[in-house]
Amino acid sequence: MDETQRRAYLEAMDISLWQPRFSSPLPMPSMSTVMPVSAVPKVVEIHQTIEIKETNPAPEPIIAPVIEIAPPVIAAPNWETLIARVNACRACELGALRTKTVFGSGKRDAALMLIGEAPGAEEDQTGEPFVGRAGKLLTAIVKAMGLEREQIYIANVVKCRPPDNRNPNANEIAACVNYLREQVALIQPRMMLALGTVAGQSLLNTTETVGALRGRWFTFGETQIPLRVTYHPAYLLRSPNQKAKVWNDLVAVMERMNTPSKN
Ligand code: URA
Repeated sequence: MDETQRRAYLEAMDISLWQPRFSSPLPMPSMSTVMPVSAVPKVVEIHQTIEIKETNPAPEPIIAPVIEIAPPVIAAPNWETLIARVNACRACELGALRTKTVFGSGKRDAALMLIGEAPGAEEDQTGEPFVGRAGKLLTAIVKAMGLEREQIYIANVVKCRPPDNRNPNANEIAACVNYLREQVALIQPRMMLALGTVAGQSLLNTTETVGALRGRWFTFGETQIPLRVTYHPAYLLRSPNQKAKVWNDLVAVMERMNTPSKN
C-alpha cells in the first residue's frame, strides 16, 4: 500500500485534518500484514496534528449487565456445527425476527479479531457483518491499519438483528455470547478489538462505559488474549470528533501486534 492510499484511508476515517507540522512528512510505511512498530505514527504526533473538538460528544449507550443465562460453551466446537447451531438458534426472541443470522466473516485463523454489537438492517439482509454505513467506516479503519478485511475476523456479540436497530438487551446478549466465545476458541486470535459499549461490556463482563474501557489493555478468556476496547464505528458516524481517539487505540493494537514478547 503506498502513502497516497494510506492517507486516503486515514481521510476516510475523517483523520482528514492530519497535516504534518514538520517540513518532512511522518513516515507512511508499506505493509505486508501489520504496520511495523517503528513506522507507526506516534500517538503524540497525532495528538499534535489532529484538531479534536471535545465538545458535546454524543454519549455511548449504557446497557444493563449481562444476566448469566447463556447456553453452555461446547467443549470442542467446530465451524460447521457452530454455524449450524447459530442458524437454528431460537434462544431469544430475535431468532423469530431475523432474515438471516450474521455469524461473522474473515480469516478463520486471523491474528486479529474485531467484535461489534449486533447486525443492522443491511447485515440482516445479507448475512454479512458490517456492510452498512458503519461497516464502510470499519473497512476504512481496517485499511488504515494496513490490513484488508479478509485478513482479520469480524463478528458480533449478537448474531441476529434487534428490531429498529436498538441495542441488544441483556437477555439477548446472554443468549448469544457463548457463540462468540466458541468463535474465539476456534480462531484463537492473537489480539481482540471490541467495538463499542456492547462488545466491551459483554466481553469483559463489566458495566464500565466504553470511554472508561478504551485506552487500557485487558485479557479475554483462559488463554488471556490481549483485548482492547474502542468506540463503535456507528458512534463515530455520530461523533466524528472521536475518530482521533480510535486511531490512537488502533496504533496501540498495531504496536502490540508487532511486539511478540508482549502477548
Ligand atoms: N453492523 C454489524 O454487523 N455490527 C454492528 O455492531 C453494527 C453494524
